[in-house]
Amino acid sequence: MFNDQTVVITGAGRGIGASAALQFAEHGACVVVNDLDAAMAAETANAILSQGGQAVAASGDVTAAGFPELLIKTAIDTFGNLNVVVNNAGYTWDAMAHKLTDEQWQAILDVHLSAPFRMIRAAAPYLRAAAAAELESGASLSNRCIVNVSSTSGLHGNIGQANYAAGKMGIVGLTKTMAKEWGRLGIRCNAVAFGFIDTRLTRSQEAQEEAIEIDGREVVLGIPQKVRSMLDQDIHLRIPLGRPATDEEAAAGIVLIASPLASYITGHVLEVTGGMGI
Ligand SMILES: NC(=O)c1ccc[n+]([C@@H]2O[C@H](COP(=O)([O-])OP(=O)(O)OC[C@H]3O[C@@H](n4cnc5c(N)ncnc54)[C@H](O)[C@@H]3O)[C@@H](O)[C@H]2O)c1
Repeated sequence: MFNDQTVVITGAGRGIGASAALQFAEHGACVVVNDLDAAMAAETANAILSQGGQAVAASGDVTAAGFPELLIKTAIDTFGNLNVVVNNAGYTWDAMAHKLTDEQWQAILDVHLSAPFRMIRAAAPYLRAAAAAELESGASLSNRCIVNVSSTSGLHGNIGQANYAAGKMGIVGLTKTMAKEWGRLGIRCNAVAFGFIDTRLTRSQEAQEEAIEIDGREVVLGIPQKVRSMLDQDIHLRIPLGRPATDEEAAAGIVLIASPLASYITGHVLEVTGGMGI
């Protein structure tokens, strides 16, 4: 399904991004595996290589100035083309709005909104030129698209996540705008909004093995155990399928909407939520 196609995926060292990278590779893609965590990015890329797939690890911070351009250049230099960009990297840094610092607000908007915009802008010359050349020569258009990762917190808001909800809703506006700007070149842009996926972002804070470091400051990931227990208790009422998704199930939503099977789907927000929020 993705033979001869190159996919760049951010935050693919673990969780949903790592699963998506493996699935893209299983379907024939050459994958550029980015993560802040170099060891984890290498682990995902090596897992793909050991299964006979094609991948390169490209670690780094998607919010760093100039890094999106470098990441896209890695795709072109390594595999010679670019088809799919998945803006998946991210983390949460929660607080009630009245206690949220400027630093928390800005860091979360940087990673969930500004970095995806810069990735799209960096990919633009390659995606647009290749599509324009195909249109001019009368060749059929290859699969080219952006997939942005959103969240039910963005669609509906969520207590303690004013920063994250703003970023995850902002990305929906960016997604729809790109669908309109690039549609005539056949380049699609969609978002996937996840609900409750079992990754370190949703495990109890007390069970986290490590915090992540953002600009020299430790950010503890996850949900306080007290809140997590409450969420688990009425899970059947909140989620029709009655359980969180695995990272593989979540990743499949990304691969599905990036695939040629979705060639006439653009500007869409695919809710991968087990029915949560319907
Ligand atoms: N888990 C859920 O329930 C859920 C729900 C809705 C949306 N999401 C979104 O899905 C995406 C993936 O999350 P996950 O649950 O797999 O989390 P995860 O923590 O398992 O994986 C996220 C990866 O992103 C990387 N990352 C973070 N900041 C980065 C940066 N600046 N540059 C490069 N890499 C960076 C981390 O190192 C990590 O490996 C995120 O955008 C998240 O907001 C998750």
